[in-house]
Amino acid sequence: MGKWRWTLPLAVAIVASTVVGGGAGGIPTTLDGPFVPVTSPLDGAGFRGRAVDLPDSDPRVRRRARGFEPEQISVSLSATPDSVWISWITGNFQIGEHIMPLDPTSVASVVRYGRLRQPLSQKAVGHSLVYNQLYPFEGLKNYTSGIIHHVRLTRLKPGRKYYYRCGDPSLQAMSDIHVFKTMPALGPRSYPKRIAVAGDLGLTYNTTSTVDHMRSNKPDLVVLVGDVSYADLYLTNGTGSDCYHCSFKTVSPVHESYQPRWDYWGRFMEPLTSTIPIMVVEGNHEIEEQIEGKMFEAYNSRFAFPAQESGSFSTFYYSFNAGGIHFVMLGAYISYNRSGEQYRWLERDLAGVDRKVTPWLVASWHPPWYNTYKSHYMEAECMRVEMEDLLYSYGVDIVFNGHVHAYERSNRVYNYTLDPCGPLYITVGDGGNRENVTTRHADDPGHCPEPLSTHDKHLGGFCATNFTSGPAAGKFCWDRQPEYSAYRESSFGHGILEVMNETHALWTWHRNQDLYNSTGDAIYVVRQPDKCSVQPMVTKPHKTQTLISDS
Ligand SMILES: *[C@@H]1O[C@H](CO)[C@@H](O)[C@H](O)[C@H]1NC(C)=O
Ligand SMILES: *[C@@H]1O[C@H](CO)[C@@H](O)[C@H](O)[C@H]1NC(C)=O
Ligand SMILES: *[C@@H]1O[C@H](CO)[C@@H](O)[C@H](O)[C@H]1NC(C)=O
Ligand SMILES: *[C@@H]1O[C@H](CO)[C@@H](O)[C@H](O)[C@H]1NC(C)=O
Ligand SMILES: *[C@@H]1O[C@H](CO)[C@@H](O)[C@H](O)[C@H]1NC(C)=O
Ligand SMILES: *[C@@H]1O[C@H](CO)[C@@H](O)[C@H](O)[C@H]1NC(C)=O
Ligand SMILES: *[C@@H]1O[C@H](CO)[C@@H](O)[C@H](O)[C@H]1NC(C)=O
Ligand SMILES: *[C@@H]1O[C@H](CO)[C@@H](O)[C@H](O)[C@H]1NC(C)=O
Ligand SMILES: *[C@@H]1O[C@H](CO)[C@@H](O)[C@H](O)[C@H]1NC(C)=O
Ligand SMILES: [Fe+2]
Repeated sequence: MGKWRWTLPLAVAIVASTVVGGGAGGIPTTLDGPFVPVTSPLDGAGFRGRAVDLPDSDPRVRRRARGFEPEQISVSLSATPDSVWISWITGNFQIGEHIMPLDPTSVASVVRYGRLRQPLSQKAVGHSLVYNQLYPFEGLKNYTSGIIHHVRLTRLKPGRKYYYRCGDPSLQAMSDIHVFKTMPALGPRSYPKRIAVAGDLGLTYNTTSTVDHMRSNKPDLVVLVGDVSYADLYLTNGTGSDCYHCSFKTVSPVHESYQPRWDYWGRFMEPLTSTIPIMVVEGNHEIEEQIEGKMFEAYNSRFAFPAQESGSFSTFYYSFNAGGIHFVMLGAYISYNRSGEQYRWLERDLAGVDRKVTPWLVASWHPPWYNTYKSHYMEAECMRVEMEDLLYSYGVDIVFNGHVHAYERSNRVYNYTLDPCGPLYITVGDGGNRENVTTRHADDPGHCPEPLSTHDKHLGGFCATNFTSGPAAGKFCWDRQPEYSAYRESSFGHGILEVMNETHALWTWHRNQDLYNSTGDAIYVVRQPDKCSVQPMVTKPHKTQTLISDS
């Protein structure tokens, strides 16, 4: 790996005006960096109106399927381009007292598909399940889902369109015909045209704007970096809040959720997800504790993951290929330590990547390591301390995160030091959920959080400490936008990654308040495989992290 380090005085100053607007000629490349940090000023009072959830009555979230007709249809990728998963739900959920879970075997899981609309000559059969969300507390309602079906199609041709219908033919309950396109074949000159990346969507009117903008950009694949439905901002009686712990802390014996919001989300998203493959990784809003300490039931049940196909056997971390890009999706809310299963899987997975076939290595998980907003500042430090060396040693090109409800693009960085071989970190937790846009920065005067206050009990450790070197040495926060942050802006939006070839990719960020064809940020990500060679590291176990107790 490159050993030289950039210093700020040598940095090429790229002024914000060349970036905003993203005119063809003016787009900088990462080779022009590291960039002088830019913060986009907030317009008006710094707050563009609150994000309001779609109500139960919105036609886009209501059940249209009759009987056992499929609804909430979605396509997701398997690990390789010759295979996809089709998922859908039949039968209605129940919520309240005396719920009776449906029998998952009562409705078959069949996909009819083919290269032509007629006849759909091929057939695949899968499995089905129901999940429950149970709260054994006086006054709280229980939920049981419709029947969730997952069917894997195999031996598909890469880069081709397939038509399909799903459902149970014996019940005369097959869906309409939908169409999807498989990922292009693996190889250094083979890429999906556009990959949309979004996070923390929720289901507000702002979410609908994000999704509209995303569709107008015609992605071939959608990557969701966690925090999906925000069903856990609701009580089981359907009363919601913009801030759960502010509103309900004295009422509930447990963190409740209103699971029908997941069904609303699945219905709202169907026009997109039935056609464009979507890959999801878990966020903290997917935890959803319930009876007997069960967690993540909706997340685990509703989505299909290439878990087995990528050798992880876990829904919480997995990998897949999209043309010449290898994606690793990591779990931040389960063990990530060096002696744990996730870490050992990641070592094996990275060791198996052939960069001559998939030159691009993209990693994604929910809470960002390099975040300069006050919200979730330094929260995922233990995960960074544990895993950063491994990702760096394999030359990860780009990292996508969510969690923070704003946009931020880093300079190339490693271990909090500018490094031309470090990954580019991009936070896109700005999908539009009802918790509002994040505006405060940790470096705003008087807003540096107390280190202990940055701890999240779901993140398994506490590692946030003061900087030991650099301009913020001895302090917890910088006194200005940190040098590892290249650009940050508090707006809702989504991003598009367009990989051109084995060295160049264009990343653009699209704000909801802009015209459909304009960009709020644009950068060419340039790989330097000769300068930044892959040097697999041999992992030494870390000393045990001490867990601080919940307070
Ligand atoms: C959210 O959407 C509302 C309209 O529903 C709009 O007024 C507001 O500006 C949007 N908020 C942001 C941060 O884009
Ligand atoms: C919900 O399920 C739990 C566990 O089975 C049970 O103890 C509780 O009474 C149920 N609540 C309702 C309202 O049915
Ligand atoms: C739901 O429960 C909360 C807390 O008990 C209460 O304030 C609210 O009015 C209830 N909402 C409905 C729709 O019953
Ligand atoms: C790492 O995680 C594994 C699995 O969760 C656990 O058994 C082990 O105690 C952890 N080790 C350390 C050093 O925290
Ligand atoms: C990362 O930086 C910290 C603090 O400057 C230092 O103690 C540590 O040794 C560095 N780690 C690596 C792997 O360089
Ligand atoms: C979001 O903004 C609205 C309007 O200012 C405010 O009422 C609400 O409490 C905010 N929500 C959060 C979670 O800060
Ligand atoms: C860490 O930095 C903060 C200021 O950001 C300071 O108040 C605190 O004393 C420092 N702690 C240590 C242990 O140096
Ligand atoms: C990769 O694409 C970029 C941008 O289109 C171009 O400048 C560069 O020459 C291409 N490199 C190769 C090896 O084709
Ligand atoms: C964006 O769309 C508007 C209206 O359709 C058009 O006038 C403008 O030229 C477009 N801009 C770009 C950069 O394509
Ligand atoms: Fe989050």
